[in-house]
Amino acid sequence: MQAKYLTTDQPLSIDDISQQGILYDYILPHPTQYQSALDIWKQRRGYQSHDEVTLTPQTPNLTGIIETFYKEHLHTDDEARYILSGSGIFDVRSKQDEWMRISVQAGDLIIVPANTYHRFKLTEEKSITAVRLFKDNPSWVPVYRPQAINQE
Ligand SMILES: [Fe+2]
Repeated sequence: MQAKYLTTDQPLSIDDISQQGILYDYILPHPTQYQSALDIWKQRRGYQSHDEVTLTPQTPNLTGIIETFYKEHLHTDDEARYILSGSGIFDVRSKQDEWMRISVQAGDLIIVPANTYHRFKLTEEKSITAVRLFKDNPSWVPVYRPQAINQE
């Protein structure tokens, strides 16, 4: 995990982002390690389910999918992702409404709390496999920010 303020490049530590309400953990991406660790996070946050999603250049309509992910939005439930392979970029609004850019790769667990504006995109490798943790009936319908400014 690497994090920084997008506009100033000022680095952000795990402590910094946790003070902004974002939860982070590193868990070795090996089945004997991550399954029990994710179970603990599920208990802690009240998640009942999980699934696995993969995006690659072969994913049909990848460009269209990423376009919707990269529009600033929030959810009324947590967005919890554990990265198994590949990489991705979360931009999350700080309490001062600044973009914090959080780059994740295998082993990173990130939880963007409910009602926090964010967006997501792939890195140059355009490939990611992630475990999604969620409640049984998660409300993931994105709520787009009015007049979202998505330029960097
Ligand atoms: Fe989202």
